[in-house]
Amino acid sequence: MLSLKTLLPLAALASAATEDLRTYSTYYPSASEVAVDAATASTAVTTSDVEGIFAKRIFVIWLENTDFDKAAESEGLSYLAQYGITLDNYWALTHPSEPNYVAAVGGDYFALDDDRFITFPKNVSTIVDLLESKNISWAEYQEHMPYTGFQGFNYSNQETFANDYMRKHNPLISYDSVSQDADRLSHIKNFTQFEYDLANEQLPQWAFITPNMTNDGHDSSITVAANWSKNFFKPLLENEYFMNETLILLTFDENETYADKNKVFALLFGGAVSESLHGTVDSTFYNHYSEIASVEANWDLDNLGRHDAAANVFEIIAEAANITNDDVDTTYLVNNETYTGYFNDASQEFPAPNVNLKNKAGNPVLPAISSLWAEKYASQSSAGFFTATTTTISTGSIPDATTTASASGSASGSASGSAKASASVSASGSAKASATASSSAAATKSAGAGNTVQVAGLTALFGFIAALAL
Ligand SMILES: *[C@@H]1O[C@H](CO)[C@@H](O)[C@H](O)[C@H]1NC(C)=O
Ligand SMILES: *[C@@H]1O[C@H](CO)[C@@H](O)[C@H](O)[C@H]1NC(C)=O
Ligand SMILES: *[C@@H]1O[C@H](CO)[C@@H](O)[C@H](O)[C@H]1NC(C)=O
Ligand SMILES: *[C@@H]1O[C@H](CO)[C@@H](O)[C@H](O)[C@H]1NC(C)=O
Ligand SMILES: *[C@@H]1O[C@H](CO)[C@@H](O)[C@H](O)[C@H]1NC(C)=O
Ligand SMILES: *[C@@H]1O[C@H](CO)[C@@H](O)[C@H](O)[C@H]1NC(C)=O
Ligand SMILES: *[C@@H]1O[C@H](CO)[C@@H](O)[C@H](O)[C@H]1NC(C)=O
Ligand SMILES: *[C@@H]1O[C@H](CO)[C@@H](O)[C@H](O)[C@H]1NC(C)=O
Ligand SMILES: *[C@@H]1O[C@H](CO)[C@@H](O)[C@H](O)[C@H]1NC(C)=O
Ligand SMILES: *[C@@H]1O[C@H](CO)[C@@H](O)[C@H](O)[C@H]1NC(C)=O
Repeated sequence: MLSLKTLLPLAALASAATEDLRTYSTYYPSASEVAVDAATASTAVTTSDVEGIFAKRIFVIWLENTDFDKAAESEGLSYLAQYGITLDNYWALTHPSEPNYVAAVGGDYFALDDDRFITFPKNVSTIVDLLESKNISWAEYQEHMPYTGFQGFNYSNQETFANDYMRKHNPLISYDSVSQDADRLSHIKNFTQFEYDLANEQLPQWAFITPNMTNDGHDSSITVAANWSKNFFKPLLENEYFMNETLILLTFDENETYADKNKVFALLFGGAVSESLHGTVDSTFYNHYSEIASVEANWDLDNLGRHDAAANVFEIIAEAANITNDDVDTTYLVNNETYTGYFNDASQEFPAPNVNLKNKAGNPVLPAISSLWAEKYASQSSAGFFTATTTTISTGSIPDATTTASASGSASGSASGSAKASASVSASGSAKASATASSSAAATKSAGAGNTVQVAGLTALFGFIAALAL
């Protein structure tokens, strides 16, 4: 992949590119330090009953690194599929794991292209800000996290030292807006707490569950992960308290084969899914941003000003909320590489959210977010800042945008066209505009171009140059 460094002089961006400096102080506690911290960790148990348009509770569970067909054919997941809706057009965003996880709660992966230890500044918001705006209870259940709120890089099996809990699979822990807030941190719990909260009928309304590195298939196989899932959910399917108006999404962070399109197996099930839909297939285009968009639609929430705003909403929720999803042409979609942006180019500022976006439910960016970021958003836009947060050009505008190395003369033909298209799109600021975005954050190579949509002129041109050069 051509480094953005080459492009900087062209775009006349201010700072010279340097080696990637976006590193953070990592935390690798010893077992004895873990034991000390565990003694003072506090665990919150919160529940609530905020009415949703479709579901009362939305739980998300991710397994690891499996291609669609292998997952669909597994005994465990085909068992569960009888009780739900298989989503056969559901896309991961990039490789490897961590960017997919952080994106599913933050609405972008900010050009992260590895699994390193990162932290997001406290002013970067997540789904937690949206949920808390309506007092909707939430939690994470992370298998074999040594104590609530553990912030270390890993917690291994203390006998074999095999990988067990990994920070990279914990979507919220890297956001300081969660981990530097004691109350919020007390909701990042060990998986064992799930059984406790269930037994006490104190489950939150939104939760993210991460099985350990064996049970999620990462260090085992799809057979093990699917079997674990079946064993975990089978009793829950009979549990009236758990099932009541609950929607569960089971999916995978990414598919296994990098050269292939990054579509993953996904299943919606739970008491909220009517029996008439059991065993059916929904082929609407979704990606990990749909996880946030669907929560927003279900509880009529504001948005983050990132790719959540444009993402399609799970059709069962969309129907209840009178939302029309977008058709997304996936012909050129690959989603198998990270675009150039904040985390892989030290010259780039952290991108502001687009404070003008509306989500599919018609709701604006959360006021706390837009007031904090409005000025930065304006300055980045007017400076033609190359931002990773705004919407992207549709893959259709640059037919070969998603296929690496093949951006050729034909792309230049569509250059002005697509720049114009994006400008007009940004003017309307419509949900549809951002819809194409989520598809192309994916559109690997065009990501540069993609990110320019909101800002016409120089940025669009720069984005296009990036797409071409890549
Ligand atoms: C959330 O809870 C707080 C504290 O109980 C309360 O003041 C606030 O009005 C609630 N907000 C909503 C949207 O219900
Ligand atoms: C965390 O969960 C693991 C199993 O996943 C369990 O063995 C361990 O005792 C739990 N630790 C705490 C502090 O609850
Ligand atoms: C983290 O992983 C390293 C490397 O496998 C291991 O040596 C260390 O003990 C682990 N830390 C904890 C707290 O489990
Ligand atoms: C993951 O949890 C399972 C229990 O569900 C346990 O058997 C397995 O050993 C754990 N994996 C590791 C690496 O400790
Ligand atoms: C699936 O799990 C059950 C219950 O733990 C176990 O008896 C069975 O051997 C497992 N099957 C596979 C293929 O792992
Ligand atoms: C299911 O939820 C509804 C609405 O919140 C409630 O009235 C009902 O009692 C619940 N049923 C069970 C079995 O929890
Ligand atoms: C992404 O997919 C394209 C098309 O199959 C392929 O040429 C490229 O090598 C893939 N990228 C990676 C990182 O595997
Ligand atoms: C990865 O997902 C794509 C899109 O569904 C699929 O075509 C491909 O077969 C998957 N990879 C493999 C090796 O199955
Ligand atoms: C959706 O539209 C129907 C028919 O117009 C209406 O009855 C219903 O209240 C609407 N639902 C929402 C959530 O707006
Ligand atoms: C967000 O926080 C970072 C780190 O503290 C700071 O550098 C940046 O200026 C803040 N951005 C805004 C818009 O407040």
